[in-house]
Amino acid sequence: MKHFLSIADLTPHELRNLLDLAIKLKMEWRDGGNKPLLQGKSLALVFQKPSLRTRVSFEMGMVHLGGYAFYMSPAEIKMGGRESVADVARVLSGYVDAVMARVFAHDHILELAKYSSVPIINGLSDYNHPAQALADFLTILEHKGRTEGLKMVYVGDANNVARSLLFAAMKLGSHFAIATPPRYALKEDDLALGRQFSTAGAKVEVFEDPAQAVIDADIIYTDVWTSMGQEAERAERLKIFPPYQVNQQLISRAKPDCIVLHCLPAHRGEEITDEVADGPNSALFPQAENRMHAQKAILVELLTK
Ligand code: CP
Ligand code: NVA
Repeated sequence: MKHFLSIADLTPHELRNLLDLAIKLKMEWRDGGNKPLLQGKSLALVFQKPSLRTRVSFEMGMVHLGGYAFYMSPAEIKMGGRESVADVARVLSGYVDAVMARVFAHDHILELAKYSSVPIINGLSDYNHPAQALADFLTILEHKGRTEGLKMVYVGDANNVARSLLFAAMKLGSHFAIATPPRYALKEDDLALGRQFSTAGAKVEVFEDPAQAVIDADIIYTDVWTSMGQEAERAERLKIFPPYQVNQQLISRAKPDCIVLHCLPAHRGEEITDEVADGPNSALFPQAENRMHAQKAILVELLTK
């Protein structure tokens, strides 16, 4: 693994190895602390958009492993504005051992990877959010003990997060169902690519009606209706998405031990109710913590192998 840009780039074996390593590093950390596997290594965190989880979990992950990380806000680099993406990649490669970037256009991630001589980690683009999907499947493994044959139902906007979940679900043998308003569905290209990654037990289903989709779900997943960068569409989206709210009535149609996931930040009262987010089926906060454990595995894999 040279970079971490998309779940699509990983073999099922590589994906499982990352999950196994994440579990190992989490146990080690809980048992008193991680070994300084990344001593002397540095990570630049480059952001074009706001963040809580991605920024803090990467930074603390590096600290726990004996490395050093620093944050660069959207105003500092102005990647693609003050300086070309290629030049940012060339310059950072001379200073640090790896770069994590959160960008608007996915092309910027691809360009960073093209011109960087150090590993690039995708910390979210308009296309995908692979580090999130890794933490999500770590959370599923912890709660369900397996990924094969489980039914994950994504409800809401078919966005960056949904795309990475589709790819991971296919590679891990899960059943991925998605319920969206027709205008906000996954594109045929995404579904076709996802299906190419199917392993034993994997299956994709597309719904318009969330009530139908969630029947017998093991996992219900949702995300905001308006992602970062889409703020101008918020008023219109608020009119269309309310039938896709994850509330108690919806989750009562899933399996009783269904877990509810959300990458966060949540717009409580929109895509998810307080009752569900804070209720017995919610795994939202263990999921958020798992960002750090999953990303430690990515960092160790990229910087020590
Ligand atoms: N889930 C996630 O990526 O959160 P942040 O936007 O806070 O990093
Ligand atoms: N889909 C959301 C995820 C945030 C972590 C966004 O892109 O804003």
